[in-house]
Amino acid sequence: MNESNILLEIIKKRRSIRHFDGRKIPDDFMQQILEAGRWAPSGVNAQPWRFIVVTGKDTLASLAEKCYYKAFKSRHVGEAGAVVVVCADPGAGSRAYIIDAAIAGTNMTLMATSLGIGSCWIGAFEEQAVRNILYIPPNLTLIALIALGYEIGKASVPPRLPLSAIVHHETFNSAGEPGAIKKMMKSGPFSVIGKLLRVLINKR
Ligand SMILES: Cc1cc2nc3c(=O)[nH]c(=O)nc-3n(C[C@H](O)[C@H](O)[C@H](O)COP(=O)(O)O)c2cc1C
Repeated sequence: MNESNILLEIIKKRRSIRHFDGRKIPDDFMQQILEAGRWAPSGVNAQPWRFIVVTGKDTLASLAEKCYYKAFKSRHVGEAGAVVVVCADPGAGSRAYIIDAAIAGTNMTLMATSLGIGSCWIGAFEEQAVRNILYIPPNLTLIALIALGYEIGKASVPPRLPLSAIVHHETFNSAGEPGAIKKMMKSGPFSVIGKLLRVLINKR
């Protein structure tokens, strides 16, 4: 298998895991996950991300209390082996600090997948409460919590839209797509006419 296949496989394999067994994540794995975040691209290479690694069971339990979506409590935060809290410093020099930090977070979830560790991006939390628990200074923007751990069970695969529903070629309005005309000119009778025209115009 070549490298691009391996990468696509990891991307497809990553799932949002919502049931962990609470086991500790080995330090060298944690190091590699953080390293994957560190090597993310960022606007003007400002690297505005700041990571808080939480492994203490009591703190994880406190965070879990403050992570929920409507009535759904994020119990998986409390069951995780670690949670990486991704923050961003707006003053670091990149106007895209939120995007930069999100890319770093994505890198970490993919690295975790490649190491056999489940992850879940948590975006629904009580911001002020999380800030208070972790003493996050007010100048930092809180981006996400990434729960990491060993999965119990097997998460289902939420479907994705087909490429045909999300990809547009050359312009958003495919009807006026210059690429389509080019393609037509390259095939069938149009290609012969096209070649003739090119010979006449360019004399070759
Ligand atoms: C910005 C963002 C916020 C999310 N917030 C939560 C959350 O608060 N709790 C949770 O359990 N999952 C959360 N998720 C995970 C999504 O529900 C999940 O990615 C989506 O359903 C697709 O499933 P998959 O990740 O397994 O492919 C979030 C994902 C993103 C990208």
